[in-house]
Amino acid sequence: WTVPLLSGKRVLITAGATFEAIDPVRGITNISSGQMGMALARACRAAGASVSLVYGQIQTPLAAGMAFAEQVSSADEMLAAVQRLLPHQDVFIAVAAVADYKVRNRSEHKLKKQAGQKVPVIELTENPDILATVAGRPDAPFCVGFAAESEHVLEHARAKRLKKGVPLLVANEVSQAMGKATNQVILLDDEQETVLPQMSKDDTAIAIIERLAQLLVQR
Ligand code: C5P
Repeated sequence: WTVPLLSGKRVLITAGATFEAIDPVRGITNISSGQMGMALARACRAAGASVSLVYGQIQTPLAAGMAFAEQVSSADEMLAAVQRLLPHQDVFIAVAAVADYKVRNRSEHKLKKQAGQKVPVIELTENPDILATVAGRPDAPFCVGFAAESEHVLEHARAKRLKKGVPLLVANEVSQAMGKATNQVILLDDEQETVLPQMSKDDTAIAIIERLAQLLVQR
């Protein structure tokens, strides 16, 4: 960066996939690799920010040079870690693929398959929405959300941005993004919708930070 766009800013990022336990050895997770979150963490640091990272399951190396990094498992743990770190942040970027539901009837012991027994039923209950919770706080930092959609990307993304109350939302199609090295995103904010080309997640992260920095100046 010729200009340190996020100099002096504190940025908190969630990344990777959450894991909701069914029993001590099994759980519900998703195909998020953590690559987009790590790319953003590296780019924020390169832009001069002090970066804190709360991450779940990842299939990519942890970004270097973080001011703070903590691995968590479930959505509840991720929310608790985020809330603990929040009072001191200027920007919150929710990249993590958080499970919408957790297991209500989680078993303390490993579920056993026994002849003649019924197939176990996994009951689900809603998880907290970390991004919406943070964005709704009176002392909310500038919030950036992601929306991975499998269809009608723009319509869903517009609705999601308003519903969650975030000034900047990054939308993409699941098949173009999750678990992949490249991404193709649309940036949605109050002023404009910017369609970015398919490019590496590092380049996508840089483009997101450039728009974020512009919006921060206007605030
Ligand atoms: O509702 P949906 O999961 O599509 O929203 C995606 C955005 O919301 C992402 O930025 C994601 O990190 C965040 N999110 C969250 N907590 C949840 C669900 C999603 O922070 N429980």
